[in-house]
Amino acid sequence: MSSLGADDENGSNVGNDLNNSQRHLESDRTECINNTGTNNKTEHASVVAAHYNHLEEKGIRERFKSPIFYLRNFNNWVKSVLIQEYVDRVRGNVYGKRLRVLDICCGKGGDLSKWQKACVNHVIFADIANISIQQCKSRFDEIRKCTFTAQFIAADCTKESIRDKYTDPSIRFDIVSCQFGLHYSFESLPQVRRMLKNATECLSPGGYFFGTIPNAYEIVSRAKKSPNGQFGNRIYNIKLLFDPKDGYPLFGAKYDFHLEGVVNCPEFLVNFDLFNKLAREYDLELVYKAGLGDFYKDHMEKYKQLLPKIMCFESYPAPPGKQLIGDESEYEHAKSFYESIDNKSQTVGTMSKCEWEVATVYMAFVFKKCKK
Ligand SMILES: C[S@@+](CC[C@H](N)C(=O)[O-])C[C@H]1O[C@@H](n2cnc3c(N)ncnc32)[C@H](O)[C@@H]1O
Repeated sequence: MSSLGADDENGSNVGNDLNNSQRHLESDRTECINNTGTNNKTEHASVVAAHYNHLEEKGIRERFKSPIFYLRNFNNWVKSVLIQEYVDRVRGNVYGKRLRVLDICCGKGGDLSKWQKACVNHVIFADIANISIQQCKSRFDEIRKCTFTAQFIAADCTKESIRDKYTDPSIRFDIVSCQFGLHYSFESLPQVRRMLKNATECLSPGGYFFGTIPNAYEIVSRAKKSPNGQFGNRIYNIKLLFDPKDGYPLFGAKYDFHLEGVVNCPEFLVNFDLFNKLAREYDLELVYKAGLGDFYKDHMEKYKQLLPKIMCFESYPAPPGKQLIGDESEYEHAKSFYESIDNKSQTVGTMSKCEWEVATVYMAFVFKKCKK
């Protein structure tokens, strides 16, 4: 797997590019704030909401046939690890400690069962897509013997105060999770600020704010290697919707991301250094960040028992009567490993090159709320 990991060297060059454009634009911050066309923003928010609202919920059988079956499961492993790791940290030695969570950009509630497994006590779910929120509530209502209570909020978390909508606005969260959603706020500085305010204003000191986002360094690095700013493989395609020759805008650096039946609405690059700088204004201290390739290396030993349970990896060679999800040529890494082992009745757990290329577009981050 590691041979398919993120390209760190190129990543850091791109980091310099982003940093340069950051320096350039920081002197012009007021312009950044004022240069955000309100009409466009409103339009984009409704495009995103409509897109997620209309995403079909696939049955288990369909999901098994999906060309991104293992990628989805791997992403679920990453989210499970984040949830387990940081719930354990805030719980510490106090077994019965009551934990409250904000799941912001929650979608249809893909993490409901993870919160249940983590034995948290209350979760507020928030998302811009009202139909997704309704589906999230229905899924919650279907959980038998649910251990936690919940509230569901449909709101644009980059523009509205969600605290105003809490049943109890004096609530204190121990964990705030934003999975695969924060990048939508990078349309403009006020939107990032509103998102950060929503994520942090009720987070207790010592609590954690974590999430997953597309890794801008990785995207820019891959785009630089392509002649037209567009790259991908059979399951994904990313196209920059701005001209890098004019620099990388700090906000509104739009790109199209197509991923097999999952995402196909424009997103925004997150300049992580800038994000971290802004996060500090909200009393957040960065405690961890890594591309998902490195995240896997950092956590696989401790959380390896979860890998087969979540079915993160495909067996190579394919078991009798089954087919590999990708073309044989996408498994060179697994083939050479398999050839090196003596016991040929064993198989190798792996992911197709195409799926791994998508997995490593993403990164994870964890912030801790500082004590004042
Ligand atoms: C890729 S989905 C991730 C859903 C869920 N967190 C998960 O991991 O399964 C991104 C979610 O972000 C939500 N989102 C996008 N922009 C948002 C905004 N401005 N406010 C709240 N939610 C937003 C979308 O509606 C969508 O449900």
